[in-house]
Amino acid sequence: MADDGTAPPGFELLRRVVMAHEGWDLMSYRPHQLFRRLRILTARSGAEGFAQYAVLLRRHPEKLGELRAFLGIKVTQFFRNPERFEYLEKEVLPLLACRNLRVWSAGCANGAEAYSLAMMLEDVIPGGFAVQATDMDEMILRTADDGWYPARDVALVSEARRQRYLVPSGRGFSVHPALRAAVFFRAHNLLSSPFPQGLDLVACRNVLIYLSDEAKARVVGGLSRSLKPGGFLFVGSTESILNSASAGFAPCGPFFYRKMA
Ligand SMILES: C[S@@+](CC[C@H](N)C(=O)[O-])C[C@H]1O[C@@H](n2cnc3c(N)ncnc32)[C@H](O)[C@@H]1O
Repeated sequence: MADDGTAPPGFELLRRVVMAHEGWDLMSYRPHQLFRRLRILTARSGAEGFAQYAVLLRRHPEKLGELRAFLGIKVTQFFRNPERFEYLEKEVLPLLACRNLRVWSAGCANGAEAYSLAMMLEDVIPGGFAVQATDMDEMILRTADDGWYPARDVALVSEARRQRYLVPSGRGFSVHPALRAAVFFRAHNLLSSPFPQGLDLVACRNVLIYLSDEAKARVVGGLSRSLKPGGFLFVGSTESILNSASAGFAPCGPFFYRKMA
């Protein structure tokens, strides 16, 4: 919203066009960042204002991919917030110690998080897990599927894991084909796509922070239904879930929630 609480001119039309084509509501995102990003996209498209941009998108719906790609911040890294991954390995995984663990990295960006989870799981239960990784941006999923990363992205990967799971390639590293085969990437929008079911662990990190309170509650409810009883949700370091019990979760360590039976 603008400072006086009103949406900028043309926004309602743009919202309707996106809803009609995509099935999700722009207002699911926090307004300040949403409007800033939409203004940049509008200017880049050559449109003068949101109404013109909405008409352009209606005529050329293929340009909606650009909007999906630009709305989300893409910052990520292998083992981002390493102390949380350590907690996952030492405190959470032992509680899930079964074979055929089903894991979802939701809002995976370029896949660094999904491959980090796969490295850790392969160390603990070799061959006994499957990771699915999703994002609403199809373009970044291509990078994820390629599995090549500049050296700075893998700086937090331990030497042992680097040797085992990464192959030096140009100025960076490629994910070893065997690890790549354990991660399945696909497009999925947390605001409109059906959620997978029967999961043991869901990482949805640094995505909820961009959503409105209402959308965040809806997504957290969906993630809860995705998990088996006793399964875990792993969120980002600024994404505590107030009132987690109403979504069927019990807090369980910093930034982990366990689905209650
Ligand atoms: C900051 S990245 C987080 C990457 C990784 N989870 C991490 O914490 O390092 C946020 C990702 O969420 C994705 N995203 C934003 N809104 C989404 C939605 N509604 N559905 C699915 N993905 C979304 C963006 O495209 C972006 O790739």
